[in-house]
This record gives sequence, structure tokens and C-alpha cells, in this order.
Amino acid sequence: MSVSVLIGSQWGDEGKGKIVDILSDRYDIVARYQGGANAGHTIQILDKKFILHLIPSGILRENVVCVIGNGVVIDPIALLEEIEFLKQHDIDIEGRLFISHNAHLIMPYHKLLDSIREKSELKIGTTGRGIGPCYIDKYARKGIRIVDLLNKKELEAKIRMNLEEKNNLLKKVYDHEELDVEAIVEEYLEFDKAIDPYIADVPLLLNDAIKQNKNILMEGAQGALLDVDYGTYPFVTSSNPTSGGASTGTGIPPTKIDSVIGIVKAYTTRVGNGPFPTEITGELQEMFRKWGDEFGATTGRPRRCGWFDAELLRYSKLINGIDFAAITKLDVLSNLDDIKVCIAYELNGKRLKSFPSDVSRLSEVTPIYETLPGWKHDITNVTSYDELPSEAKSYLDFIEKSCEFKITIVSVGPKRSQTIEL
Ligand code: GDP
Ligand code: IMO
Ligand code: MG
Repeated sequence: MSVSVLIGSQWGDEGKGKIVDILSDRYDIVARYQGGANAGHTIQILDKKFILHLIPSGILRENVVCVIGNGVVIDPIALLEEIEFLKQHDIDIEGRLFISHNAHLIMPYHKLLDSIREKSELKIGTTGRGIGPCYIDKYARKGIRIVDLLNKKELEAKIRMNLEEKNNLLKKVYDHEELDVEAIVEEYLEFDKAIDPYIADVPLLLNDAIKQNKNILMEGAQGALLDVDYGTYPFVTSSNPTSGGASTGTGIPPTKIDSVIGIVKAYTTRVGNGPFPTEITGELQEMFRKWGDEFGATTGRPRRCGWFDAELLRYSKLINGIDFAAITKLDVLSNLDDIKVCIAYELNGKRLKSFPSDVSRLSEVTPIYETLPGWKHDITNVTSYDELPSEAKSYLDFIEKSCEFKITIVSVGPKRSQTIEL
């Protein structure tokens, strides 16, 4: 029996979807614990590309049960679209998808406020999916949860209370037209009918599964540096993607978690604003984007690209407790003669002893680089570690030694078959 947490170790888009799909072969249950439809997890099976936003990436394995925990914020429209998309691809989800009755719902005003605030206040570069405003209401104890859909009268009262505040804000501060209570109530009651078969008491379901010695994989969304507590605040998302979030977001106690798997891109990317010490500029950035197809799976925005950052990864290991790592997109580096890697940061001429998570200091650091030789060899068909060019092995060795975790998987392409297990 094992319970593992799989996390994004950098700024998201490390290839979590692909690795969850690979690993879920060995798990009975895959559970999401935070975030929402801001996530875009890609799985490529043969020539078919599946992008999942809310439903765990284990759904493509027919024997795996998928769970959405209470820590996830659910956009009804996105969820129903995803269920429909899976049905169209003949993926049977009946009896395999369970959603926590305590999960909070993204409401129309959350999406509206997310996009309006991005125009008028501090620009985070959010995905516009209403994530921040929904978590604000959750912590302000005003949120609408799935369980609230059961009682029409109370639901209406709660939405009315919320709209009184939001309409005031929309009208007086943002000069935007007001929203209508009845229309929202009707829309959400319809949604309740559609999702009724999937609602469950998730902490009970998962802890019962543990008692029955089932294997559970918890799938993080986003990445450690986007964590609201440990990331590059305020340029973060509004949840805890780090491994600690897995307990509060599902109801599996920390004492039941056996290991943490970190997904680590062989270089670094970031979408949205905020400091990025190893960011590459100019033509080379464009080349990285092309080689790695670095465009957001949710918004299509071009991702910012940079060199591998061991200082950042050591911090990520510290706060997540990464035991094992999967290195993804190693193939993308095959185009380079030399590969730069950041080994530490300097600030005001002094080498820093730890990662500065406050953005003002992080924005001013100078990365200290080493240069490793490239391999200039197509590795997308390599299926075993031994077949990798010696320079690629040295690159992996550098990562393992400088970050002090064990690499157990190396990914050399988006497909299932393009995976090397060590
Ligand atoms: P996630 O959010 O962490 O699940 O990652 P995304 O799906 O947003 O982005 C990862 C992208 O890289 C997707 O388009 C994947 O299909 C692709 N991908 C995953 N692993 C590899 C790999 O090893 N090599 C290449 N070239 N692409 C990969
Ligand atoms: P996956 O799970 C990469 C980024 C946004 C923005 C910040 C806040 O696919 O790795 P939000 O909409 O969450 O309020 O935006 O977080 N962001 C992601 N970046 N991958 C993601 O998810 C992300 N989800 C949010 O670009 O900078
Ligand atoms: Mg993604």
C-alpha cells in the first residue's frame, strides 16, 4: 500500500499530466487536492492529445478511480465540458469520478472579478478562471460549496448575500453592470442535477481506501513557486500546490503519506508575471518555445523560458520534501551545443545561502552559471538510461547531485512510450 503526492517543482507546466498518466497504472486512486481549471495537464496517447483542467490525469486508465478533493475550486462549466469531452472520446467515467461535497464553486462573479482586477490592479497575469476571487470568498467564509446546492432556499440566500457585496463593487468601483441572483441560482441548480452522481464524502472514501490497502496518488496542480505561502508572492496562485496542501485538500492525514514525487522540467518555464532569475531573452527564448512547444495548455499564452535552476530546486525540495523526481522534456535540450545551469545566486556581490522567496530580493539576484556540454543527438526514441548519450547522463547526474533527490523517471517526449524508468 502506498500514498504518494506528486507535485510541480517549479512554476507549473512541468509535465505533471504526462507523469501522472504513466504512474497511475500502479495506483487505484488519483486525487486532485487544490487549484481549479487554471491547471492544464496534457496527456498524449498515440496522436491524441487530452488536456485536463479539473479531472485527475488518472482518468485515462480505466481501472483508476479519480477524486476531486475539497481543496479544489470547481467551475461548473469547465467540469461539465470536461465530462462531455471525455464521453466524446469514449472514456467511461461512471462510477470512477468522485467529487467532494465540500469543494467550493467558482461563481460567475469570481471569473468577472478576476478579469476586471487584472485590468485595474496589480497585474499577476492570472489565467482568468476566477481562482483568486473564489479562494478569497472561501477564506472570508462566504463561499458557495457543492453541499449548498442541496437546499434551494439557503442557496438563494447565500448567493443574494454575496451578490449584494459584489454588485456594489461591480457598480461603484468597477463601473460594471450588476449580476442577477435568479439566473445564477437556476444555473447552479441545473449543475447540481448534472453532477449529483459524482458527489461523495471524500475524506471517508480515501481513508477507507487506505484501510483496504489501496494505492493513492495525489496530483498537484501548478507548482511550488506558485504556492501562496512559499512562492514568489504576490505573483502566485491562491492555493497550496506544495505537498502540504495534499492533506488539507483531501482529508488524508500527513501520517498516511509515504512519499513525494517532484516533477522537474529539465529547464525552467513560467507563465504570467513575476521574477524569474534564469529567464532567457531574445531569439534563444523563441527557440526554446518552439522546441518545447511552450504555450499554455489553458490559456495558450507563450511561456517564458529559462535555464535549469538548481538553487530554486533545492528550495522546492526543502518545502515539498521531494523523495523522487521525474525529469521531463530532456529531449528539448538536444538542440543545444552547450547548456547553462544555475548553481547558486549572488546578491550585492555575495553568494546567497538560501533561496530568497521575497520578490524584491529575488528580482535582484544574479544567477551563477556553469556550462555543461550538450549532446546534439535526438533522444526522443531512447527507451533506456544506458542508451542516453554520455552528456545527457552527465546532465541528469548534475541535477541529482545539486538537488539531492533521486531521479526515477526521465521523459524524452510527450507520449507514454517516450519515458525512461531508472
Ligand atoms: P502540466 O501542467 O505539468 O501537466 O504540464 P502541461 O501539460 O501544461 O505542459 C507540459 C507540455 O509538455 C505538454 O504539452 C506535454 O505534452 C509536453 N511534454 C510532457 N513531457 C514531455 C517531454 O518529455 N518532452 C516533450 N517534448 N514534451 C513533453
Ligand atoms: P498547471 O497545473 C502554470 C499561474 C498564472 C499566474 C498565476 C496566478 O497546468 O501547471 P491564477 O489563475 O491561478 O490565479 O494565476 O499562476 N498559473 C499557472 N502557471 N501552470 C499552471 O497550472 C498554472 N496555474 C496558474 O499564469 O501567473
Ligand atoms: Mg499545465
